[in-house]
Amino acid sequence: MAEELIIKGETREERYHSLIPQIKALCEGEKDLIANLANISAALKNGLNFLWCGFYLVKGDELVLGPFQGPVACTRIRLGSGVCGNSWKEKKAIIVPDVDQYPGHITCSSLSKSEIAVPVMKNGQVLAVIDIDSEVLNDFSAVDQKYLEELAKLIADFYVQ
Ligand code: SME
Repeated sequence: MAEELIIKGETREERYHSLIPQIKALCEGEKDLIANLANISAALKNGLNFLWCGFYLVKGDELVLGPFQGPVACTRIRLGSGVCGNSWKEKKAIIVPDVDQYPGHITCSSLSKSEIAVPVMKNGQVLAVIDIDSEVLNDFSAVDQKYLEELAKLIADFYVQ
């Protein structure tokens, strides 16, 4: 289970717990959205060791690929399409234990087995979606959701459209 996974001598919850303040400090004093999202992707990828960590940004009626770390990914996703498009449409986090069982899942890498998508929201509007893919089945839990929602709030504070 995700809670028991040990990364660099810490549980995943402990990793998030130390990572979120580091990310906050990293973004403080920097106004550029892409620079901040690029560093956050790197911090998530290196800190938590997932297959793919990154962002899709709401641009008009589509999500467009933003900063990420991991294998190449699809560039545009429509509202209600795939995990990210549904997270955007439903304005909520979606945990997919097995991507092969998710209707309409958009496959970017055959190595991806499970996924979590979390919307970045401001004033009830979705600005972007945080997307993380894992090579491990059923790798995401309420722990990931809790910390990624905290991260989404932090991002919403400095997000400029
Ligand atoms: N699987 C996602 C597409 C993005 S990639 O995983 C990076 C989806 O179904 O929306």
